[in-house]
Formats: sequence, C-alpha cells, structure tokens
Amino acid sequence: MGGRGDSGCMKPNSGCMKPNIAVFCSGNGSNFEALVKNNRKGKFPGSIELMVTDNADAFAVLRAQRLQIPVLFVDPKRYVSKEDYEKVLVRELRRFSIDLILLAGFMRILSPYFVKKFRNRILNIHPSLLPAFKGAHAIKDAFEYGVKVTGVTVHFVDEGVDSGPIILQGSVSVENNDTLSTLEAKIHKLEHRIYSQAVNIVLTKKWKISRRRFVLLS
Ligand code: GRF
Repeated sequence: MGGRGDSGCMKPNSGCMKPNIAVFCSGNGSNFEALVKNNRKGKFPGSIELMVTDNADAFAVLRAQRLQIPVLFVDPKRYVSKEDYEKVLVRELRRFSIDLILLAGFMRILSPYFVKKFRNRILNIHPSLLPAFKGAHAIKDAFEYGVKVTGVTVHFVDEGVDSGPIILQGSVSVENNDTLSTLEAKIHKLEHRIYSQAVNIVLTKKWKISRRRFVLLS
C-alpha cells in the first residue's frame, strides 16, 4: 500500500492491503451504500467495518442494516463539548481498529483534535469543484450561479472546512435543459463512482502531500 498516515494499516509502506474502514453519515447514505457495494465488488481494498452516524433517524442507518454493516450511533447532544463527543468516537474507532475514515454526508465539522488523531486518514466527498462552492448547498449554489461546468471533489480533511488536499475531481456539464434535480442526479451518479476510485488511489498508490498538493509518486 502507498501512502500514508501515521499508524496501523496506514503506516507508510506498511504493505497492508486490508485497512479497516468506517464511513460517517448523517442522512441519506447513498454514497455509503455505493462505497459498500463497490468495496464488495473489489473496487478498492480493505473492508468497510462500520457506519458511524450522529443521527439515529438517518436513512443511512436502514441502508447499513440492509447491507449488514454495524452502526455506531453516538448522540452529540449527550456531550457538553465537541471534544468530549469526539473522544468517544476516537475510542470506538480504536475498538474497531479503524484505519481510514470516509465522510459521506456527515454534517458535523470535525475539530482539530479529531483531525490530528487521524491525520491524512480522513477523506470527504464534496459536490462541487472545490474551492468553488464550499458549504452545505454546493449543487444548488453552483446551479443558481449559472456555471456551465461543475463536479465532485474528494479530498483529505484538514482543520478547515472543505479545504484539505484534493485527491480526485470529476466534472459534469450543466446543459440548458438541466434543472436543479437533473443536475443533482448527475452529480450523485458521479459521486458514487469517483469516491471509490479516490479510496483506491489512496490505498494502492504511493503518494505524498507536498505544499498542500496530493502527489502520486508512481
Ligand atoms: C453528497 O452530495 C456529498 O457530496 C455531500 O453530502 C451528500 C451526501 O449524500 N457531502 P448521501 O447521504 O451520500 O446520499
């Protein structure tokens, strides 16, 4: 395996091809389901061992049950501070020996404390060509702005919001007859493919991060 974070299976040049993966979701979970199905088809190594949610009513929970993936629900409302909440997440992720975290519609900003614990081992998918259209309504914002091309970005999570080094991007064109919902459908279709491709790159290629650039070494 290439890469790398700083512990366990994500150690530089550890050669480990079986990282344990957790996917974090707050809502629908279509990316989570696509990741599980692609993982089972062998599109990237390792295995998705856990779905983590901050929302017990998320549709992603039903998807996880159907896919037979264990669900960890930690209710943020039970904790006084973000760090207390995240300490529980870190403890549980260690219990499941999680090496890699994939955020997929997780509607919570992770603190520097958590990011440091999993430096370069947290990926996120965002439905725009970053750095354009950061934030929670990226597809609508891009559509309303009138862009002709938009897309999807998979990036590492750093201490900022939608700001970490970019691993992979894909574009879709916005046609005259597109509506917000046809554009959303195009974006989600691309997301369901590109996230697995990005995970595969991170887990199988040699890479480094140099001046915020994700650079493939071979
Ligand atoms: C996706 O558009 C993803 O890019 C964004 O949140 C949305 C999650 O959708 N971060 P789903 O829950 O995976 O269906």
